[in-house]
Amino acid sequence: MKAYEIRESFGLDNLVLVERDDPEPGPHDVVVDVAATSVNYRDLLTVLGHYNPRQPLPLVPFSDGVGRVTAVGSDVTRVAIGDRVCGIFNQHWLAGPFVASLRAGTLGGPLDGMLAERVCLSEEGVVPVPEHLTDDEAATLPCAGVTAWSALFEEGRLQPGETVLVQGTGGVSIFALQFAKAAGARVIVTSSSDAKLERATRMGADETINYIAKPEWDKEAKRLTNGRGVDHVVEVGGAGTLSRSLNAVRVGGHIAVIGILSGTSHEVDVIPILMGRLRLNGIMVGSRSTFEMMAMAIQAQRLRPVIDRVFSFDDAPEALRHMQGASHFGKIVVAGPTG
Ligand SMILES: NC(=O)c1ccc[n+]([C@@H]2O[C@H](COP(=O)([O-])OP(=O)(O)OC[C@H]3O[C@@H](n4cnc5c(N)ncnc54)[C@H](OP(=O)(O)O)[C@@H]3O)[C@@H](O)[C@H]2O)c1
Repeated sequence: MKAYEIRESFGLDNLVLVERDDPEPGPHDVVVDVAATSVNYRDLLTVLGHYNPRQPLPLVPFSDGVGRVTAVGSDVTRVAIGDRVCGIFNQHWLAGPFVASLRAGTLGGPLDGMLAERVCLSEEGVVPVPEHLTDDEAATLPCAGVTAWSALFEEGRLQPGETVLVQGTGGVSIFALQFAKAAGARVIVTSSSDAKLERATRMGADETINYIAKPEWDKEAKRLTNGRGVDHVVEVGGAGTLSRSLNAVRVGGHIAVIGILSGTSHEVDVIPILMGRLRLNGIMVGSRSTFEMMAMAIQAQRLRPVIDRVFSFDDAPEALRHMQGASHFGKIVVAGPTG
């Protein structure tokens, strides 16, 4: 079967298409024929060697993918041949709080990921996907979708009428826009592009801020909330945005600390955190049960993930370059080798 490997060293040019043996399921495993995968910023960092420079190679990258179950082990009871499933981001985190020992269970590093013709996963590590979604759409759910859901509902306990600020228009943020609107929230979207902000408005964003034209977007967020501040920030910017997020949020508000798009380390004034009694939550995607909750909501609301572009399997490295260019809106998908 075909698979991509980061071979001997990191770098986009070292992502190579190889032939591997077809996987054989153990008693509790399932084999999934991959129909589509999607790209997350983490996949780009992984291929470049910035996510975990000590990651043993070769590695099949990409955490997210969907496909049909084509073989099951002798003792499998949770899924059947023909089921359409996604692999869950962290194969070991099924429910309950996250604990450090679960860290090694993530697909696309340290475990081999989904950028292959066929994958072998534990029957515990897959979930059925909403029926109304195409394969391309379903492939976007495991990391970006679950992360946005965890940020808003599990950690944020978002209530209707609250205001959510989402940073940028990448995969996580556009899911957060869709979920927050479906839950009756008011949403402020920031972006570097007026064209992307117009698109966000057409999707239901209530207010928009161009963070290039208005670098003090935290003050603008305060103005848009009559000086009170937003209830939640979906913080994907990291080092370059956290201080402004601390200013943009209301007293007692919540910041879901998710991303590192503008770096990992910066001096932060702790005073707004303690004086504002702020709640900062680190997010690490979510568990299988969180995925299942999200999938039920997507099914009930007939939500459809926003896909920027679908690349062919042969063009998978181009999909990563497209993400690097940051011109995308929503998710970037890579079709399976037979798609
Ligand atoms: N902790 C977790 O569980 C978890 C899960 C998923 C993702 N992440 C992290 O979250 C981040 C986003 O991931 P993603 O897959 O959604 O990435 P993505 O699709 O590549 O998002 C890129 C977009 O983010 C926006 N952006 C970049 N720098 C920004 C800044 N300084 N301020 C505001 N917006 C900015 C830009 O939007 P515009 O073009 O509109 O300006 C850019 O197009 C990454 O750092 C990723 O590693 C973490």
